[in-house]
Amino acid sequence: MSERQARSGFRLPAHTVTTRHLGAAYPFVAEAGLGHRGVLIGRDLMGGAYVYDPFELYAQGMVSNPNMIVFGQIGRGKSAFVKTYLWRQSVFGRRAWVVDPKGEYEVLARSWGVMPVALRPGGSVRLNPLDRGEAHLEHLGTASGSLGASAPSAGEPADDSQRRQIELLASLAAACLGRNLAPRERVAIDLAMSTVAAFDAVPTLPRVVDALLDPRDDMARSVRTDRARLLEDGRDVALELRRLVHGDLRGMFDGPTTPGLDLSGALVVLDLSALYNSAALGVLMACATAWLQSALARDAPRRSRDGSQVFVVVDEAWAILANLGVARWLQASWKLSRAFGVANIAVLHRLSDLRAVGALDSEQVGLAQGLLSDSETRVVYAQSPGEVERASELLSLSPTEAELLPQLRRGIALWKVGQRSFLVQHVVGPGERELVDTDTAMGIHAFD
Ligand SMILES: Nc1ncnc2c1ncn2[C@@H]1O[C@H](COP(=O)(O)OP(=O)(O)OP(=O)(O)O)[C@@H](O)[C@H]1O
Ligand SMILES: [Mg+2]
Repeated sequence: MSERQARSGFRLPAHTVTTRHLGAAYPFVAEAGLGHRGVLIGRDLMGGAYVYDPFELYAQGMVSNPNMIVFGQIGRGKSAFVKTYLWRQSVFGRRAWVVDPKGEYEVLARSWGVMPVALRPGGSVRLNPLDRGEAHLEHLGTASGSLGASAPSAGEPADDSQRRQIELLASLAAACLGRNLAPRERVAIDLAMSTVAAFDAVPTLPRVVDALLDPRDDMARSVRTDRARLLEDGRDVALELRRLVHGDLRGMFDGPTTPGLDLSGALVVLDLSALYNSAALGVLMACATAWLQSALARDAPRRSRDGSQVFVVVDEAWAILANLGVARWLQASWKLSRAFGVANIAVLHRLSDLRAVGALDSEQVGLAQGLLSDSETRVVYAQSPGEVERASELLSLSPTEAELLPQLRRGIALWKVGQRSFLVQHVVGPGERELVDTDTAMGIHAFD
């Protein structure tokens, strides 16, 4: 501005930019928020309230999927956020299905007027992970028969649902064996599953184990081998899956789903805490999430009829990522989220949970990181300084964001929604405190 212009009171015109450009130039200072449609999460620390809804953002084209991953060190408030989030979403008629490895969603369930489904060895509830996904099959009932000579020929092409069951069985077997399956083991599973499916409208694990341990001649012939060799090919798999039928995990996944389980409620919580500290947690979570997916598929027609949407939460998801089969299968479910009207939420501790699942160039790591790409909302609570570099790389953090990450206090998280960033303090309302308090055993009351 010249001296003459200044004396005459001349002003340069204000510089005008879009909020998007301004936000990019001044992250954390000039974000425009995500609109007002959705549930209140808390305070945007750069000013104003912070409201978020994945289905709304998806409808507006702001995210390409409704999935979310929540990261954070122990005790930073990840589960507290998820619980209040679901509770607030219930106002909009949204439902939720939760895999709860610590058994901490009970208060939420009771507030919602339902009881968690508690799975424990020898307990009263059974879930069949091989339940079919299609609703119409429910009406067929179970036509259980022996695996005798009149069976349709083995090796017939499997339908989609059967392929999912085979994939799941392979995942479970790999989880139980703690290693990848050999091709011959996969074939043994494939043949056993096809044979059982030919007789049973709703296959169960004991029937698959029987088919693996007692293969039929035509199963063997279809892959140009004999019974003895096919039995040998599938023996390790059979013995490990037998654990779910006769071993330490018996009574939970080894028969038809317990009739009368109320899954129509607004909230379904699978309480897995009986085995939280056991090495079997990964397998248990794999079975539980498998069953959940098939139940969700059966529930899909209802959702499309009444337009309802559902959240599926896997808390402590790190316990299942390390297994290749399960991770592969989990990623497929993540990809199906839009088709199912489902917003998935996975809760992990560190970004390196995604890398710790295998060698750097392994498929496990690829899949775990794939979950990240299939989750356009990433909510990051405090990370240790050692994690910052990885977080910066995987989440494309700005230097300011990276610097902030180790300093975030309990309840405060960096939200990356698509390309946008927010610093958000999750606010727990007075009526919600009981839902979220996990510190009572420590003699601490977070809100005293
Ligand atoms: N926004 C918040 N404001 C105040 N207190 C909070 C908030 N979020 C969580 N807390 C309290 O912090 C404690 C730990 O929270 P929470 O169990 O959610 O942590 P977490 O990150 O899930 O931990 P973990 O990794 O062990 O599962 C709880 O007692 C909860 O009441
Ligand atoms: Mg937690």
